[in-house]
Amino acid sequence: MSRKALIAANWKMYKTPAEAKAFVEAFLPLVADHTRDEIALFPSPVLLPTVIEAAGGSNVVIGAQNIHFAEEGAYTGETSVNQLTAIGGTHTLIGHSERRQYFGETDEIVNKKLHTAIKHGLVPVVCIGEVLAEREAGLTGNVLKTQVNGAFAGIKGLAAEVISSIVIAYEPVWAIGTGKTATPEMAVNAHRIIRAEVASLLGPKVAANMRILYGGSVKPDNATALIGQEEIDGALVGGASLKPDSFTAIVKY
Ligand code: PGA
Repeated sequence: MSRKALIAANWKMYKTPAEAKAFVEAFLPLVADHTRDEIALFPSPVLLPTVIEAAGGSNVVIGAQNIHFAEEGAYTGETSVNQLTAIGGTHTLIGHSERRQYFGETDEIVNKKLHTAIKHGLVPVVCIGEVLAEREAGLTGNVLKTQVNGAFAGIKGLAAEVISSIVIAYEPVWAIGTGKTATPEMAVNAHRIIRAEVASLLGPKVAANMRILYGGSVKPDNATALIGQEEIDGALVGGASLKPDSFTAIVKY
């Protein structure tokens, strides 16, 4: 199986343009020779032009943390896929748990955003994961299957190469920003459930090629144990991605 890992930084609502530029300038030389994995940065919308320009011509790709499902329109405060691609953004997160939790994003909205993203050639990183109460109630598998089915409604008919660009990020909500990480075993089990669900929806070949990242308190000291697993195809990193040194240590796990 040759799935190239994707190591992605989710900067959330941190950094000014000057701080973002300083990060990229310090970070690029540290990873310039790194070809084993793909590297992506997901800054806030206001930082995107600065970061895209600073990373131009490098081995680091840039995406948005969120897009709207409409191509344009009266949606105050939102960012469209056309705006993102016009400035050179190539990726987008979709349905991060903070979007689901604080901004009411449902599986249906996630699905609409996924269709818009792939129609415009963006690489989507679809985020799914259970909350603590669901894990404790033994519902993790059901939650993940529901989220996969919800996100991927209507995807089956699309071209194989389009479908295979989709990335999933498994992020147990209880592990995000808490310092609590899923054990490699917990993560691998969840990834197997997700991959099996993708296989039953979209076929075994698509499932075998689809990258599934882990996210939730990934740090330099746990990155190898997690990303080193056959089932785990990279990481979506929040807190530990804000400093060039710690993010580099994760990239080079
Ligand atoms: P964390 O965030 O690494 O700070 O837990 C991960 C994420 O929210 O994507």
